[in-house]
Amino acid sequence: MEIVRTFADARALGSGRVGLVPTMGYLHEGHISLVDAARRECDTVTVSLFVNPLQFGPTEDLASYPRDPDRDAEMVAAAGADILFAPPLAEMYPTEMLTAVSVADVTEGMEGGLRPGHFDGVATVVAKLFAGLVPDRAYFGRKDAQQLVTVRRMATDLSFPTVIVGEPIVRESDGLALSSRNIYLDPAERTAARSISRGIMAVAGAVLEGKRSGAELELIAAAPVNEEPGIDLDYATLASQDTSASMANLDRPAFLAVAARVGRTRLLDNVHIDLTDTGWTPDVGVRLDEPSILYREA
Ligand code: PAF
Repeated sequence: MEIVRTFADARALGSGRVGLVPTMGYLHEGHISLVDAARRECDTVTVSLFVNPLQFGPTEDLASYPRDPDRDAEMVAAAGADILFAPPLAEMYPTEMLTAVSVADVTEGMEGGLRPGHFDGVATVVAKLFAGLVPDRAYFGRKDAQQLVTVRRMATDLSFPTVIVGEPIVRESDGLALSSRNIYLDPAERTAARSISRGIMAVAGAVLEGKRSGAELELIAAAPVNEEPGIDLDYATLASQDTSASMANLDRPAFLAVAARVGRTRLLDNVHIDLTDTGWTPDVGVRLDEPSILYREA
């Protein structure tokens, strides 16, 4: 695997069908599942590693965001990536940014409502990665469901030919969705955090039993979080996979997204619910057998 710092070097090394896995580093099995998917479908697999200042609000954790570039490089090499693109700030933003990519409507509710400017930062950096690396396919986790909707819409609106692929959530064995920010949780917070995935699993069960009302499914998702001390619910929302608009009934592909705060950590989870030949099928993701690599000594 080659580690490169410039767009030009990354482009020069790519051949055939190029798959991109954009990341902010501090990788875990969720990211590796994206590399695996890219490896199956592409000739060249490029992982980008860049903690993007544009998507952090002034009171958010940019300075303390976890970083371990050496371990990240080992993990992506072991997963079979060809290129690790780890640009310095001056490569990504060589001049003051006078241009921003802003995706309207789909960024309005949920995370977009609570984190003003966040999705402008995401859409801008992902557009730059698409323009600079020219990937044929790009892989994103379904955990950040509204981000996935935003990136899809940005790519369509700006005529990027890149195919956007969403991959299932990877979870700890007790259900907690993997996130680099999980390392912030102390043991009591970790226990409280489990209530989120309990709600998500309950929603999946309720959908399989035939429940279709948005309000009812949202209450089912919210209940375990609201009953648990030490965790505060931000929202539980049934939203469209195409537009992120909230939905009164499960009548088109949707995700039920939950966001909650535990101490200083915000956690997200969701279940995607897709219409298949056999009806509405919930995708609750996959579970690890043992604790995530996030907790292992380097
Ligand atoms: O999901 C993330 O890690 C980031 O939002 C992304 C897509 C790499 C853009 O910085």
